Amino acid sequence: MGYRRGLVDLAAGQVSREIFVNPDIYAEEQERVFARAWLFVGHDSQIPNPGDYFVSGMGEESVILCRDRASEIHVFLNSCRHRGMKVCRYDEGNTSVFTCPYHGWSFATDGRLVGVPHFREAYHSQLDRSQWGLVEVAQLCNYKGSIWATWDKSAPSFEEYLGDFTRYLDLQLDGWDGREGQAELLGGVQKWRVPCNWKFPAENFSGDTYHNISHRSVDLVGIGPSGSGRRDMGERNVSRKLHVCIPDRGHQTIHYVLPKGEMPPPAYQNAPVVAEYFRHCEAEKQKNLGDLARLVGSPGEIFPNTALLSRQPRTMAIWHPRGPNEVECWRFFYVDRDAPQEVKNFLRDYYIRYSGPAGMTEQDDMENWNYAHAASRGVIARRYPYNYQQGIGTAVTDYEYEGLRVPGEVIDITDIQSSEQPARNFYRRWAEFMEAGDWDQLATWRHRPRAAAAE
Ligand code: FES
Ligand SMILES: [Fe+2]
Repeated sequence: MGYRRGLVDLAAGQVSREIFVNPDIYAEEQERVFARAWLFVGHDSQIPNPGDYFVSGMGEESVILCRDRASEIHVFLNSCRHRGMKVCRYDEGNTSVFTCPYHGWSFATDGRLVGVPHFREAYHSQLDRSQWGLVEVAQLCNYKGSIWATWDKSAPSFEEYLGDFTRYLDLQLDGWDGREGQAELLGGVQKWRVPCNWKFPAENFSGDTYHNISHRSVDLVGIGPSGSGRRDMGERNVSRKLHVCIPDRGHQTIHYVLPKGEMPPPAYQNAPVVAEYFRHCEAEKQKNLGDLARLVGSPGEIFPNTALLSRQPRTMAIWHPRGPNEVECWRFFYVDRDAPQEVKNFLRDYYIRYSGPAGMTEQDDMENWNYAHAASRGVIARRYPYNYQQGIGTAVTDYEYEGLRVPGEVIDITDIQSSEQPARNFYRRWAEFMEAGDWDQLATWRHRPRAAAAE
């Protein structure tokens, strides 16, 4: 199918509704996108001890993230090799073996088939158990505690897959004070379903700065950490606001860059302990990161279905596809592991107020995705493409602000200027995945200079 010329026409700024509602395209997407890309599975703070597991998902597949007895981390397909039963039906826990509920085969936490009922009597000891262990992902990466996996052994390393997006994921996983990999998960993972295609939230988190009107009510209510607006805007008001798109990778984010020498205005001024903690972290960050401390995180999307909110609130999301017309959203909440309990408690309240099924900001978004999807499914509606013409041709590739170089395609924006370049970057990569035969073709950055990557 001619994805790039027919369904995703970036030069014209048009994307067909078919890619959101057509079941054949959805089925092809499972093979071409989700069976080949690197996908976020969970965080190692969810499985600190040997035998700990967390049941996650990769595309439509249920997978088990677990730590074996030797403390090694694995990701297995959660499907028994005998007749396919889900070997682990809990969300998380600790075990020495996964025993299949159907006929009782059991698998060690390193995936080996270690128990077969009536092995001697029924199988006459003939079954080669070494061949029937749990299916394991082709590659796994523990990046600063976040666990990523792919089913494709020819995929590039996770770091190569991220490209220049690394520093934005770092803002999520490193400490507020800039120390490396300080994040831990706060509480459980929130899971819920929305009747829309998974690409609605993926596109939105890529950097839809244009939909602020949707959040007028939360701004007025003042759900932010200091009780005004949706977030504390001090640092953003003195910063450059940027769309940053990583061409050839399909990752993108909204980002703020503070002027040189600027200390962010104090945020989180609701309680003395919380305010003092963040003041301390900001000062430490300047010492630890130098000029890079000027980068202030915001929403972003790692292709295909992982979203970041690296600051206010600090959460990640997975958009699990559940058929063309449904997405299962999972939201992970992060704090620094050594933050005072009062800070963690405060952040929990703010995160839940903002994100997740009860989060007031996320509810606004879900309302839009739900109704936009439903109104795009009819035979008449499907004839008309969506419009992605905003800001075509305005991206620059060598962006620098007061000595800080920002890699990627960058668009300098304000609260009323915006661009749909992040969405175009996302769908450009989506179309490449849908058309490319293998990872050799998908690793486009190895074949052509970056400058040629623009539309
Ligand atoms: S399906 Fe698991 S033991 Fe038969
Ligand atoms: Fe939103």
